[in-house]
Amino acid sequence: MVTLKKIEKKIGVIERYAEFLPVTTKTPIISLNEGNTPLILAEALPAEIGLKNVKIYLKFEGLNPTGSFKDRGMTMAVSKALEKGAKAIMCASTGNTSASAAAFASRCGLKCFVLVPEGNIAKGKLLQAFRYGAKVIVVKGNFDQALELVKTITSTTDIHLVNSLNPDRIQGQKTAAFEICDDLGDAPEYHAIPVGNAGNITAYWMGYKEYQKAGRSGRLPKMLGFQAAGSAPIVKGHPIEKPETIATAIRIGNPASWKGALLARDESGGLIEAVTDEEITWAYRFIAEREGVFAEPASAAAVAGVKKLAERNYFKPGTTIAVTLTGSGLKDPDFALSFKDELIPVEPVLEKVKKIIGA
Ligand code: F0G
Repeated sequence: MVTLKKIEKKIGVIERYAEFLPVTTKTPIISLNEGNTPLILAEALPAEIGLKNVKIYLKFEGLNPTGSFKDRGMTMAVSKALEKGAKAIMCASTGNTSASAAAFASRCGLKCFVLVPEGNIAKGKLLQAFRYGAKVIVVKGNFDQALELVKTITSTTDIHLVNSLNPDRIQGQKTAAFEICDDLGDAPEYHAIPVGNAGNITAYWMGYKEYQKAGRSGRLPKMLGFQAAGSAPIVKGHPIEKPETIATAIRIGNPASWKGALLARDESGGLIEAVTDEEITWAYRFIAEREGVFAEPASAAAVAGVKKLAERNYFKPGTTIAVTLTGSGLKDPDFALSFKDELIPVEPVLEKVKKIIGA
């Protein structure tokens, strides 16, 4: 029998990892029981991409309360904003940050303003921001332009910034690395992750380093970051004025945590590379159709990157790769339904249906 005490027990990332986070007993903890997401062993992927004796684990962050990894950082950012007396928060977003900010703000009565790029935000994310009650401002421009506006507004008013430039966001997000170490018993040899504004790769690297220093893990992984080819400023070495990719979550031309990403790459002996929209689409379909894990296109960039490296014999046998699947596939219904010839209309006639299924 489940006791009431157990039901009441808080299980968000701040409570689980308080000793590693900048919180005190005075911090009001705003949580949606985020984190504790599954680390799923990929069954079909290694063989498909020619990897023998290498394990791939999918850290499925799409199972967070608002459907993406952003909830880990947002519980921290909103809790700290409240502690500092904030009345309103603001972010620019390709969609997931805005959904998460809106949810946590609604939970504690903060006003929430979000700026999103017109035409390049997945429907599921946009509708979340509205339904959680945020004030949504649709900018006729891209994410980078929206972020510039938000930086100016939050530095000249008392509205709190909750983009990952806010260090509390990174603090919360690093808990995903802790969970992976806790589940595997150590850090993996490699960690693959999509890179957009570069906050998450920065956070994971911080998390892995802190856990090792505290003696909770032994090794450090090589950090493998992947940008979309049309939005790959870090790979190219300069900002991209007009970033393009079907993976709208990482359609970013001038990442705020650029330096953090380089540090993660260089300190870990890893790499940051680009994958094409075709490669992303292949990975997106494969993990859904063969692994039963439905993640959004940006998440699939990390899987596409692992495939690319496997083809170059990059991975050593006997090792483990963790891959962060950053968001749920349900976020982007338009992309999910964009494949031709999948919808087959048929009259309600037995013979016609049997013909389609080959029965
Ligand atoms: N994957 C998804 C699903 C994302 O939403 C994002 C970022 C990333 C990967 C990249 O993470 O920015 O830390 O390098 N989304 C932000 C947003 C930009 O506004 O939701 P990052």
